[in-house]
Amino acid sequence: MLATIGTLGLRGIDGFKVTAEADISQGLPSFELVGLPDASVRESRDRVRSAIKNAGFTYPVSRITVNLAPADVKKEGPVYDLPLFLALLSASGQLRMDLSDKAFIGELSLSGAIRPVRGVLPMAIAAKNAGFKELYVPKENAEEAAVVEGLTVFAPPDVTALLNHFCGTSPLTPVLPQSEPKADHLPLPDFSEVMGQEAARRAMEIAAAGGHNVLLIGPPGSGKSMLAKRLPSILPDLSTEEALEITKIHSVAGTLPGGSGLLSHRPFRSPHHNISPQGLAGGGIVPHPGEVSLAHGGVLFLDELPEFSRQAMECLRQPLEDGKVTISRVSGSLTYPSRMMLVAAMNPCPCGYFGHPTRPCTCSASAAGRYMNKISGPLLDRIDLHIEVPPVKFDRLASPEKAESSEDIRRRVNAARARQRTRFAGTGITSNAEIPPGKLKEMCPLSEEAQTLLKNAFDRLGLSARAYDRLLKVARTIADLAGCDELSAAHVAEAIQYRSLDRKYWQTR
Ligand SMILES: Nc1ncnc2c1ncn2[C@@H]1O[C@H](COP(=O)(O)OP(=O)(O)OP(=O)(O)O)[C@@H](O)[C@H]1O
Ligand SMILES: [Mg+2]
Repeated sequence: MLATIGTLGLRGIDGFKVTAEADISQGLPSFELVGLPDASVRESRDRVRSAIKNAGFTYPVSRITVNLAPADVKKEGPVYDLPLFLALLSASGQLRMDLSDKAFIGELSLSGAIRPVRGVLPMAIAAKNAGFKELYVPKENAEEAAVVEGLTVFAPPDVTALLNHFCGTSPLTPVLPQSEPKADHLPLPDFSEVMGQEAARRAMEIAAAGGHNVLLIGPPGSGKSMLAKRLPSILPDLSTEEALEITKIHSVAGTLPGGSGLLSHRPFRSPHHNISPQGLAGGGIVPHPGEVSLAHGGVLFLDELPEFSRQAMECLRQPLEDGKVTISRVSGSLTYPSRMMLVAAMNPCPCGYFGHPTRPCTCSASAAGRYMNKISGPLLDRIDLHIEVPPVKFDRLASPEKAESSEDIRRRVNAARARQRTRFAGTGITSNAEIPPGKLKEMCPLSEEAQTLLKNAFDRLGLSARAYDRLLKVARTIADLAGCDELSAAHVAEAIQYRSLDRKYWQTR
């Protein structure tokens, strides 16, 4: 007898409909699984067999053929345990129900408990688009799936609860979407704790307001890591579309906090400097998202930048430029979004004291040069704001005065983002950092004075065309923070100042 059960698969951050077909026929007992399953799908057979027996049913001793259609797309992971379980029960006549408007995903334990899987949110979206009315998911993934409107989600804890629901003895209640997003992290560290560093604080505000990349350079203990770790507290609010896209990536990567629906905070990722290029950009036999994608919509913080391997740093170039990363494998290529703000911190030389007002630098010129040259020109060119973080003066540090709080800064950041939303309505752009080259002239109108200033700076600083574009975008954000439509000379001058540090630290040695 033949049975078909609806389920779903995952390709990158998108789901697609899969049909699990099981046929039981006369013949020597065997189990044939076809439809491009990977090793983890092949192992389903043993889990499903135990689950069937332990749930009190009989495992069919016949010739079993299972197909996962469409047969030309790779199937990955243990999500097919639950559909295979139901397909075998239906094909062997032990379950008689019309399940055609329902889809199922979930890994099974040997006892029949339904375990969480990755990628439930994109699969739930695909289930809705494929016309399924009901989706059955593991209970740990219930909130994710319930985000999708127009789909009734059930989360049975085990197969017995599922079968009792079908026969009506104890029906499950549908999972409702969370009305309040669950707080997915502890209170964030606040900018009021950072004393002094006015210039760096201002630059962090600009970066958050326009989504620009930042490099913090300064001696040890001046507060670089401290500033970067406080950035999440001033990042702008998430729109629903952004939250959905970010949650999809974390759902696929399996990094969604348990029991959370849509993420309510922008991600902040700070990988250790011994991370591999694959860990950063994404990789694996079936490519999984890397840190650049996990930071999508938020911040990727690389502390002690020169300690990262050259290869790791270079693989940031494509994601930083295109906002997406494409990973090619024999099994095909996948693209993950990676529109994030890069925040990097470093010392100006190996001893850390080059340019320090009181302590002498003990590095030889060649050692210092080698250290700085670990950061390649192309990477530096992609960083919009180069900020010097000088040592804090005693008076400032010991002053009882509190610095401005993150809440106040965030209010200005949100106001600047609101202006950007109006400007970019209907274009798919979310921040100034993403303005495409073709739209720069239209979206960054310059006053006459600003134009002259920019021309002089371009020649004097030897800017690249990319640096010029990025400079305009930073000036755009500065003007947005000031509530201006046109870029004035003051806005442009401030943006130029953030591009001047590479001359001090790189071009003088
Ligand atoms: N501006 C500041 N205001 C208040 N405290 C500060 C400031 N700067 C540094 N500190 C104190 O010094 C500690 C170390 O600062 P932080 O880790 O940010 O230094 P860093 O610049 O990253 O140094 P390194 O180059 O060694 O990584 C902080 O945890 C904080 O206690
Ligand atoms: Mg540090």
